[in-house]
Amino acid sequence: MELGIVWLVRAAWIGAILPMVIASIPISKLRSFHELVLSFARRGKILQPSSSQKWTVPQKFFAHFYVIGVAWTTLLLATTWMYACKMAPLSPEEFQFSDIASHLTGGSHVFSFHKSHLTPVEHRFKVWRAVFLLLLMEIQVLRRLIESIYVFKYSPSARLHILGYLAGWFFYTAAPLSLCSIIAPEVARFAGNQVAEFIAKGKSHTAAPEFDLLLSISPLMKLGSCQLIGGVIFLWGWFHQRRCHAILGSLRENPSQAKEYIIPHGDWFEIVSSPHYLAEIVLYAGLLIASGGTDITIWLLFSFVVGNLTLAAGETHRWYLRKFENYPANRFAIFPYVY
Ligand SMILES: NC(=O)c1ccc[n+]([C@@H]2O[C@H](COP(=O)([O-])OP(=O)(O)OC[C@H]3O[C@@H](n4cnc5c(N)ncnc54)[C@H](OP(=O)(O)O)[C@@H]3O)[C@@H](O)[C@H]2O)c1
Repeated sequence: MELGIVWLVRAAWIGAILPMVIASIPISKLRSFHELVLSFARRGKILQPSSSQKWTVPQKFFAHFYVIGVAWTTLLLATTWMYACKMAPLSPEEFQFSDIASHLTGGSHVFSFHKSHLTPVEHRFKVWRAVFLLLLMEIQVLRRLIESIYVFKYSPSARLHILGYLAGWFFYTAAPLSLCSIIAPEVARFAGNQVAEFIAKGKSHTAAPEFDLLLSISPLMKLGSCQLIGGVIFLWGWFHQRRCHAILGSLRENPSQAKEYIIPHGDWFEIVSSPHYLAEIVLYAGLLIASGGTDITIWLLFSFVVGNLTLAAGETHRWYLRKFENYPANRFAIFPYVY
């Protein structure tokens, strides 16, 4: 069970990344495969309107991803946080020790996942680190849910391939789980025991959970330098994505523009065509750094985000160049001065 969840999530990411890697190999024999992968990934303006809308759903269904993302992340966050407070309490002194110890031993065993390699303090540190990562994810999915309902003005004709839609469901199930997959089995056991106890004893005989605000928040304030740097990078990406989404939403203030596409200006739009995708990569890089960079599952999650959004940004950039003769020539697709 312990190994099962970790390997299942890793295998799922590898299965999702492989088609993108194969499609990006520049050989003519793979051209039709490349087109096939792109046809699944296209959405909105880069999905050419065709006579048949078979196998597509409205692009506004994007909101479904964030409903599932918010529900699932909240569940994982609440149970992991409860588990951390009850089963992995950590005093400020232990946090200092844990940070020093993990540096002295070269981090918590690069790419290892087995709990038995860890000292109890290091393990408890990992639990609190997972709470921190899930908290950042919660902040992201909540904002995306609000934006997809109130900020974006989806064109009524914008569509999304059904496989792209299913990929979104997969992403918002696998991504939050990846941030805590190492400790997920023990958290699931803890949650199962709590539910079983509640059922067996009944509401009246179950002791009300003790809640100490300071104990449940203070460990998050005292995490290591990786979490601090990662958290700052995450917030940098988060704020820029919020701004870029507000710019995209503002392009269709007037209902008569519901189907129009306009050249966006402002913020990172001045340097790249898809700054909201760049900001997404920045904020996932923040999560990766905050994780300490020792968990291969989070590396796979990050690789998927980079691959998926780079593919979409390349298509978007080519679409802008085709559509607007006066498109600013200095803009890159997604990575300034690189691509
Ligand atoms: N983590 C991941 O793997 C992943 C994957 C996909 C998306 N995302 C994130 O989800 C967010 C939204 O992605 P998306 O692919 O839906 O973005 P998008 O295609 O740029 O569309 C976002 C909204 O802006 C509108 N829009 C885009 N360009 C416009 C223009 N030039 N003029 C007028 N309106 C314009 C779109 O209109 P239409 O309705 O007409 O298309 C849509 O309503 C992004 O920040 C992205 O990073 C993440």
